[in-house]
Amino acid sequence: MTLFFGIIANQFFQFGNIAELCPMKFFLNLLFATLVLAACAPKQFYAPNDLDIERGRTKFPNYTLAEMNRGKIVYSQNCGNCHAYKNPSKYSESEWNEIVPRMVKKANKNDMLINKEEAELLRKFVITMSLRPLD
Ligand code: HEC
Repeated sequence: MTLFFGIIANQFFQFGNIAELCPMKFFLNLLFATLVLAACAPKQFYAPNDLDIERGRTKFPNYTLAEMNRGKIVYSQNCGNCHAYKNPSKYSESEWNEIVPRMVKKANKNDMLINKEEAELLRKFVITMSLRPLD
């Protein structure tokens, strides 16, 4: 935040000093400020769509978008607390089947309350996401 105000102050300083007003510098500062703001913004999560559901249904018949979105919420609320969010496509289905229960146990030991149903929604979410081709 200090950095951000520093950048803003820097821009005002440049505005005040007409002789040194350099549009390129201003533009670069603005770009930098935008990047800093973007980095501070809450992480935006990929919104599952119909293609994901189709892919998910090859593993989980009757899988719904609502279930996938609930799995995404379990993931976003619990799985970035101890380490960075892990990319689902970096692990295979069988790896996820082993990782999810192990991580849910870890999370619950640290006062995050993931029940059985949520753990299952999470498992379906990461496996479905792991099937997604990288763009
Ligand atoms: C209480 C802290 C904590 C929470 C919460 C947590 N993890 Fe982890 N996670 C770890 C630690 C520590 C490791 C390092 C490996 C280990 O000790 O098992 C790890 C490793 C991993 C790995 C690397 C693969 C592996 O087998 O080690 C993945 C993938 C992962 N976590 C996914 C998740 C998911 C998904 C969730 C959401 C339920 C989650 N983690 C929540 C602590 C946590």
